[in-house]
Amino acid sequence: MDNSLIIALDFANGNEVERFLSPFEDRKLFVKVGMELFYQEGPAIVHQLKEKGHQIFLDLKLHDIPNTVKSAMKGLARLECDLVNVHAAGGKEMMEAAVEGLVAGTAAGRKRPNCIAVTQLTSTSQVQMNKEQLIPTTLKESVLHYASLAKDAGLDGVVCSAWESESIHDKTGSSFLTVCPGIRLESDHVGDQKRVATPEYAKAAGVSAIVVGRSITRSPDPVKSYEQWMNVWRGEHQ
Ligand code: C5P
Repeated sequence: MDNSLIIALDFANGNEVERFLSPFEDRKLFVKVGMELFYQEGPAIVHQLKEKGHQIFLDLKLHDIPNTVKSAMKGLARLECDLVNVHAAGGKEMMEAAVEGLVAGTAAGRKRPNCIAVTQLTSTSQVQMNKEQLIPTTLKESVLHYASLAKDAGLDGVVCSAWESESIHDKTGSSFLTVCPGIRLESDHVGDQKRVATPEYAKAAGVSAIVVGRSITRSPDPVKSYEQWMNVWRGEHQ
């Protein structure tokens, strides 16, 4: 999990995924399946990606009453993904229920998927949080609070911006995962993301894993872009 570069497969269907992945040939990747793709293709897309040997982050951001989240996680555990998530805003009891569901759905002798909590979306700004969610504190305080809550609930880490990773590790310990989207090269477009950081910054801040979407998936040469990213992120020359 540590030092992973997770490619966000934000595509509308399985055909687009296949077209995107085909130039990567037999390379084993860590990919993220989010709502856009999962709501169209369902569990079949997870099975297909697993068959090709890819690691999977199933990014469905569950947020519901504890009993529903527990049952849903029990089912998701059977897909044998590597990483799943919930919204920390669902509360401690809901997060505990998520872990219980994952344990219940994991076959004996297997490791349950890691479970992380979304703190504040990287598209959320301080003003939005204060005015729309009516949370009268700083974004950083809110993120740190959610991270502590997630840790107390038995989760394995959080989704956060790279800017918050170091403070989270100070508070929760370095083995608590910080998985960070909103990462951009200097030359990239920011798009709808608000709390963006470069991979160099993420690396220096001790981020556990980065999630990269459009910078790779919308690139004219995705394999070349992926290699450039791996080079900056891990210092790997491929
Ligand atoms: O294209 P981009 O690199 O912005 O993609 C980021 C990915 O990470 C998207 O799939 C988005 O849904 C996801 N994500 C995020 N912020 C969070 C949690 C997930 O951007 N807090």
